[in-house]
Amino acid sequence: MIIIRDFQNENAARVSEIIIAAFKGFLGDKFDEMVSYFSPEELIKEACTKNKFNVSKIFVAEESGTVVGVVKVTAGANGLGIFDYVGVDPKCQTHGIGSLLMKKAEEFWAEHNQRKISTCVSAHNKKAIMYYLKHDFIPEGYCRDHFFEGVDEIILGRFLKNKVSII
Ligand SMILES: CC(C)(COP(=O)(O)OP(=O)(O)OC[C@H]1O[C@@H](n2cnc3c(N)ncnc32)[C@H](O)[C@@H]1OP(=O)(O)O)[C@@H](O)C(=O)NCCC(=O)NCCS
Repeated sequence: MIIIRDFQNENAARVSEIIIAAFKGFLGDKFDEMVSYFSPEELIKEACTKNKFNVSKIFVAEESGTVVGVVKVTAGANGLGIFDYVGVDPKCQTHGIGSLLMKKAEEFWAEHNQRKISTCVSAHNKKAIMYYLKHDFIPEGYCRDHFFEGVDEIILGRFLKNKVSII
């Protein structure tokens, strides 16, 4: 059985390993320059953060005691949230884990009364594009050579049903 739960510091090394494997799957060596953003130490720092403007959280998917997936999400005080990133262990992909992580993200955004979510996806990352379309994200823009030269990003947005009053 797969459970989705809060990240714990003891998961940091395993989560870092999953993100690196999942992202190298579509970015190859280009991802090397970003690996330090996902070191265990950085993940521990960003696992649960809150300030006046937004709150961010990392959740993990666990199967029989092993972490197999991760998602980071953000909620904004103005009702605009972010789907920061998602990664599933390449050995466990297409088993529905990404969708369970999305469901947790939806619960998080509902708790924080979010109106709209944005994210982006590399234009050549067909699996992830299909994943986002399945979960009601719609293309809203296109950025050439965005994070890396030679890799374009599609900007995606998804409206939620929550009504938010701007504070
Ligand atoms: C994108 C990702 C998170 C999906 O996770 P997953 O556990 O494999 O996804 P699920 O099994 O829940 O599938 C959900 C939907 O995603 C799409 N999808 C997933 N794998 C796919 C594939 N190999 N080919 C086409 N569509 C695919 C399908 O629409 C699928 O719905 P369906 O099963 O009804 O067809 C996973 O492939 C991954 O970690 N990729 C590498 C990291 C990444 O690209 N992250 C996104 C950028 S931040």
